Amino acid sequence: MADMDGYIEATSFGLKEVASYADFKVKGASNLGWGMKDRLSRIFNPLTGRTVMLAFDHGFIMGPTSGLGRIDLEIVPLVQYADCLMCTRGILQSSIPANVNKPVCLRFDAGSTILTELNRNVLIDVEEAIRCNASAMAVMFSAGDGERESITAANLVKAVDAGNRYGIPVMGVTAVGKEMVRDARYFALASRVCAENGATIVKTYYCEGFEKVTSTCPVPIVIAGGKKLPEKEALELCYKAVNEGAAGVDMGRNVFQSESPASMIQAVYAVVHNGLTPGQGFELFQELKNK
Ligand code: 5RP
Repeated sequence: MADMDGYIEATSFGLKEVASYADFKVKGASNLGWGMKDRLSRIFNPLTGRTVMLAFDHGFIMGPTSGLGRIDLEIVPLVQYADCLMCTRGILQSSIPANVNKPVCLRFDAGSTILTELNRNVLIDVEEAIRCNASAMAVMFSAGDGERESITAANLVKAVDAGNRYGIPVMGVTAVGKEMVRDARYFALASRVCAENGATIVKTYYCEGFEKVTSTCPVPIVIAGGKKLPEKEALELCYKAVNEGAAGVDMGRNVFQSESPASMIQAVYAVVHNGLTPGQGFELFQELKNK
């Protein structure tokens, strides 16, 4: 029996107060279970509902690329500025200190280094995601042309089933290829299909008519940055994306290939969370770079 010393009967029940629970700001997540919501709240800032994810999973098919040669030197110093890290289990275990205390969106599919065979990626075990304390699992999904030969739809469904068993959100990553059209029609289709199949986050690309993509997708969209742009243009991309309905960014090359990656990620953060315009964001970038 519990120690009764100091036990005082409750007498205050606030009968006139309606029980209030904080708004849950992540789009489409209100009906999810506590574990899912807890993980989503680690990724998306509970106040703004937005996120700056740092993507450095490129090596899973490309090996060492520019800006990702030495993760310990090039990425670890940036981790403090990100809301969430997106990487593979290998890099997480070998190169990211376990005490950085950042949520991880784990790259959950793996495949060959032959880029055209990405559609045949396989999934890793969900137990690996649990062991890594993943807050989400990222799986590529390829819609439309080439889908016949692709197993990405099956991968997405399997990942969602596994994630749902343990309360781990799945991020559907809409694939792009050299042959694929990158327009609102394709990204809206791919994003919506990800959400319909149970993804609780979708990663896609910014495009002309982006509101169509965000408004028809019932879960939060984060954008990939794509190939390196001049810093001001990359900040414009972030600004337009969040102002046209994205919940943030999952950015890689435009951060770690910047001439000043730490300044760039802080400027991206200020645009996404603090509403800085691209011009103000670029001023901040320069100020931090010249410090
Ligand atoms: C590809 C990914 C990558 O992490 C992502 O595209 C990289 O980000 P960026 O385009 O900003 O370098 O998910 O499947």
